[in-house]
Amino acid sequence: MSVSVRAAAKINLHLGVGRARADGFHPLDTVYQAIGLHDDLTLSPAEGLTVRTDAADHVDAGGVPDGEDNVVLRAARLLAEHAGRPATGAFEVRKGIPVAGGMAGGSADAAAALVACHRLWGLDTSDEDLLRLAADLGSDIPFSLVGGTARGRGRGELVTPVDDTGSWWWVAVPATEGLSTPAVYRHFDVLRPDAPVEPPPADPVLEALATGEPLRLARALHNDLQEPAIDLRPELGDLIVRGEAEGALRGLVSGSGPTVVFLCESAEGARETGLALDGAGYDVVLTATAPVAGAHVMP
Ligand code: C5P
Repeated sequence: MSVSVRAAAKINLHLGVGRARADGFHPLDTVYQAIGLHDDLTLSPAEGLTVRTDAADHVDAGGVPDGEDNVVLRAARLLAEHAGRPATGAFEVRKGIPVAGGMAGGSADAAAALVACHRLWGLDTSDEDLLRLAADLGSDIPFSLVGGTARGRGRGELVTPVDDTGSWWWVAVPATEGLSTPAVYRHFDVLRPDAPVEPPPADPVLEALATGEPLRLARALHNDLQEPAIDLRPELGDLIVRGEAEGALRGLVSGSGPTVVFLCESAEGARETGLALDGAGYDVVLTATAPVAGAHVMP
């Protein structure tokens, strides 16, 4: 009997970044939102531990590590060790989330692996322990478990759900070539040697979310990694200008980039902006609604 789990991409509606801590990580005040682009993972019983990755047409899975570094295998091993049992199973991952795009595709797969192993192995690990193991694997992974809309503190791993009464429409434009998250953070350090110890607070986005009004949210969106990402990839700035000219309320680099996301007024608005960007020659243009659920078992 195999188990299938679906996990969503994330965007950051607010990504406030403070000065690097002694451990090298940056203190964050962020608001994550899970959006309707997803990876599907299936885990089947097997004697060894293996992973096979394939991808939807719009995704280049070439950058996914296939060896020991694959985060799906790391997640399975970490949970097995915690539960005192062998790590066994054959994973198949079908990627619909752009790889190295700043949308936490790897984190979604790790969260899905934790949920799948937990179910297939019949464990009763507490939610608290699962969230802690997720945080040990990567800063975004607890959010990939929780989904919806949530505030992240610490290095992003301390998540609490927030009020989000809206139904939001996004257009996402991935880049052909990914950007490395550590490289973007390092470039933030170069451009912002004066960064505050405390990250800029998320309050304007939290207030806008509570109103459910797209224009209010568009005005409040904020990403401290946008400037370093655009400095490394100037064409991202052109893309933002283009999408806003094509009717989007606001364009924003997603997380550390290079995917750019556009908040639109409605489903129809997202369709029109998406078609216009498609016509302007951008290869992959995706439309998604948000918020959606975190990693969950599928029938
Ligand atoms: O935690 P995660 O593995 O996702 O982080 C990847 C890299 O991103 C870290 O090694 C670090 O360079 C950078 N990072 C950071 N501050 C954070 C989160 C990530 O500097 N809050």
